[in-house]
Amino acid sequence: MEFQEVVRRRRMIRNFAERPVDQAAVERVLENAIRAPSAGFSQGWAFLLLDRPADVARFWAAATPPGQGTDTWSAGMRRAPVIIVPLSCKDAYLDRYAEPDKGWTDRDEARWPVPYWHIDTGMAALLMLLTATDEGLGACFFGIPPEQVPAFRTSFGVPDDHTPIGAIALGHRAADRPSPSLRRGRRPVAEVVHRGRW
Ligand SMILES: Cc1cc2nc3c(=O)[nH]c(=O)nc-3n(C[C@H](O)[C@H](O)[C@H](O)COP(=O)(O)O)c2cc1C
Repeated sequence: MEFQEVVRRRRMIRNFAERPVDQAAVERVLENAIRAPSAGFSQGWAFLLLDRPADVARFWAAATPPGQGTDTWSAGMRRAPVIIVPLSCKDAYLDRYAEPDKGWTDRDEARWPVPYWHIDTGMAALLMLLTATDEGLGACFFGIPPEQVPAFRTSFGVPDDHTPIGAIALGHRAADRPSPSLRRGRRPVAEVVHRGRW
């Protein structure tokens, strides 16, 4: 698919067909994730791949509040055969920037203008979303509620130094209802770009 077409077609899909996805497509999604840029080439990210029905079910049980699961959003999302959880590792950045060429040996977090560990993992997530589109698949990035993170960690043995930045549902798209958020409309370039000065 032509690049501009991939960018244009990429939308969050929240309803999936009950159909497995080609393993090669999932591997390409993951291979492209590691092409993301990262500060100091720290690559402080990890990706939890859940592609077996029992693991996906365990994800939803751990990552959503009790009682959720019957609403339209949940029902559609839960049909996705694959979940990829991108995780960021702050320590990888503090370690990398304490190396001689960077020299931040105090590992002081105040040095960081913004948390690059989350940024880089988010960039990897976008590459996965774009690759899914290019593969003709649907995907949705969504948040894991903070109160569910401990259960998620326990369920999958995730170490404390890795933080899930969200999760990506991946699968064949089914008829979708657009998010009500889209009614806000896309803010035009003229409104968000400040040319020369604010
Ligand atoms: C950081 C982030 C968190 C999001 N969390 C959710 C979520 O929890 N549930 C959901 O349905 N969509 C979620 N979205 C998707 C947004 O609602 C969506 O990107 C936005 O409405 C624009 O639609 P589009 O991506 O289809 O163009 C999230 C997107 C981002 C970037």
